[in-house]
Amino acid sequence: MKDILFKLEENHFLNDDEFKLLLEDESEETLNVLNKRAACVSKKTYGNKVYIRGLIEFTNYCKNDCYYCGIRKSNCRAERYRLTDEQILDCCAAGYKLGFRTFVLQGGEDGFFTDEKMLAIIKKIKKSYPDCALTLSIGERGYDSYKAFFDAGADRYLLRHETADSEHYSRLHPSSLSLQNRMKCLFDLKEIGYQVGCGFMVGSPYQSTNSIIKDLKFIRDLNPHMVGIGPFIPHNATPFRACKQGDMHLTLKLLSIIRLMLPNVLLPATTALGTIDPAGREKGILAGANVVMPNLSPNDVRKKYLLYDNKLCTGDEAAECVLRLKNKMKSIGYEIATCRGDYKNITESNSYGK
Ligand code: 5AD
Repeated sequence: MKDILFKLEENHFLNDDEFKLLLEDESEETLNVLNKRAACVSKKTYGNKVYIRGLIEFTNYCKNDCYYCGIRKSNCRAERYRLTDEQILDCCAAGYKLGFRTFVLQGGEDGFFTDEKMLAIIKKIKKSYPDCALTLSIGERGYDSYKAFFDAGADRYLLRHETADSEHYSRLHPSSLSLQNRMKCLFDLKEIGYQVGCGFMVGSPYQSTNSIIKDLKFIRDLNPHMVGIGPFIPHNATPFRACKQGDMHLTLKLLSIIRLMLPNVLLPATTALGTIDPAGREKGILAGANVVMPNLSPNDVRKKYLLYDNKLCTGDEAAECVLRLKNKMKSIGYEIATCRGDYKNITESNSYGK
């Protein structure tokens, strides 16, 4: 196992057999070594900084019906909401005061927010906060829409690929959605010039070691600026309500593997990780993650953006608690950075051995 870990850090990739051995190794020792190496690599690029992004969940309407997701169209128990432009700008104002310099507009695939409406919101935010980065996470659209959003000032785009195994993809999504289109969107976004984030759920139903290996290959090929991974957590009003939750050990292992594959990547310790373990966020940082995304949405809608059961929306997940988050990060030797926190393109020759 030692050789495999060494090879992963040196070559930033492994062959299928080696990945399989590593992914299926359940020993705590392997995990600890991997986490330590990954945290060390993260420190070489980003120091002990943890970047914060203010998440604004601006609509939970969604035209899609993904089998895992609590805001899927067929969940008639979901209380639907949309924020107005003014409410969104209020979230930004509150976030700016708290030190946020990146805003993430995330929502379901909501036909109400046409390209024109999105363009207007993007322009307003960029006009009021020219020093901030704006990230969109609003699902699949066409090349021209993505290009127009970028030209209007959007800087980054998050679109998890969910799984790079097309057979697995079709077990998580209705047939109207395809892995092929998902991947096309991601490559389009990259070509347009966005800083792009992909990602997947750990332990989603029917996921196999082979599908995870496909995820890792896809991540290598896309070479994204950010990778969002978190455990799958069942939601009571979805077809996967009785499925098993994703595993902490495997999530931490994958965070570290991804850090060693892409030393410069921005890697969030996700809300889902914090939901399955009260110390999940800290464990994620100590496994090589370097981003947290507290919630800036208005208080009354937070309880409605439920992608999975028991989703955290208070405590450290709430943007108001930046101070508490700062202290928690300090207790593990990290510092919250209040800047845009752009991707750093540091080459190995000047990052290693320093
Ligand atoms: N458990 C964990 N993560 C989920 N997501 C959606 N539903 C769940 C769930 N039940 C993730 C998806 C999506 C992101 C916004 O949230 O990966 O891309």
